[in-house]
Amino acid sequence: MVEKIVVLGSNGQIGTELVTALRKVYGELNVVACDIRRPDYDIKNSGPFEFVNVLEKDTLNSIFQKYKPTQVYLLAALLSATGEQNPKLAWDLNMNGLLNILDLAITYQTAKVYWPSSIAVFGPNSPKDNTPQYCVMDPNTVYGISKLAGERWCEYYHQKYNLDVRSIRYPGLISWKAAPGGGTTDYAIHIFHDALKKGTYASFLNAATELPMMYMDDAIRGTIELMDADASKITIRSSYNFAGVSFTPEILAAEIRKHIPEFTLTYTENDPRQNIADSWPRSIDDSFAIDEWAWKPEYDLSKLTIDMIKNLKK
Ligand code: SER
Repeated sequence: MVEKIVVLGSNGQIGTELVTALRKVYGELNVVACDIRRPDYDIKNSGPFEFVNVLEKDTLNSIFQKYKPTQVYLLAALLSATGEQNPKLAWDLNMNGLLNILDLAITYQTAKVYWPSSIAVFGPNSPKDNTPQYCVMDPNTVYGISKLAGERWCEYYHQKYNLDVRSIRYPGLISWKAAPGGGTTDYAIHIFHDALKKGTYASFLNAATELPMMYMDDAIRGTIELMDADASKITIRSSYNFAGVSFTPEILAAEIRKHIPEFTLTYTENDPRQNIADSWPRSIDDSFAIDEWAWKPEYDLSKLTIDMIKNLKK
């Protein structure tokens, strides 16, 4: 069967790289990039693009009608930090965008749906270290609340309508191709840009704030591996814990100094993102992903640092 894939939110940090990866696997013409914003040169020139707002049901319907996708990836969302600036919009976009897609996937019998969740589903009372798949979850950001509710909807549509919906709880994603999208973990990208441009960076998270992170190459590969896995292996239809590497700003700065010895790190105070970070896990137990679909990250801190510096220098 020829796969026809629609990616909604294709111009964001994940979408930019996922569209390119999917076009390599499934053919350029078979992956339709969709966003409300104008795409960058690579996305526009390597395959079809459509302007789509995931809150506009009629437009979405016409996209399903036109392309009859076998797979849909819904990436359009407001992240943790921007979500706090506009909670109602974050809830509307993150929740109703998902429900629109789940309903259309039933109507058009889409074979598989992918929707990302996040470590933001955990909260202050979740275990901080090696946070398990199943535990207390009391997110206190609108982003985290929408992701946790979205996970429940995904499982519900799977159980009730047999929809093959798959999801991963991404940690902070580190990449150099597209700008990060307004999250709490964005410091781990800004730090590389400023280290190279200015030799110094002012972190909005404090020195000891440890968070789960992952290099984008791993995240994209893991996502496609989950979508390729045999449906019988997927026992979790809410969202899988997913881990790469955990570190603090201080540890990341020390790693960057191995390549840029004069690099200095300072800290800003009273940034609202600190409270968000303090409510999240330090590290994640992803044994279900390892056991069920053979997940294995390739990038540790040293390898991702080398790759970030090499590519940003260009
Ligand atoms: N990187 C995201 C954020 O910080 C977490 O999913 O909001």
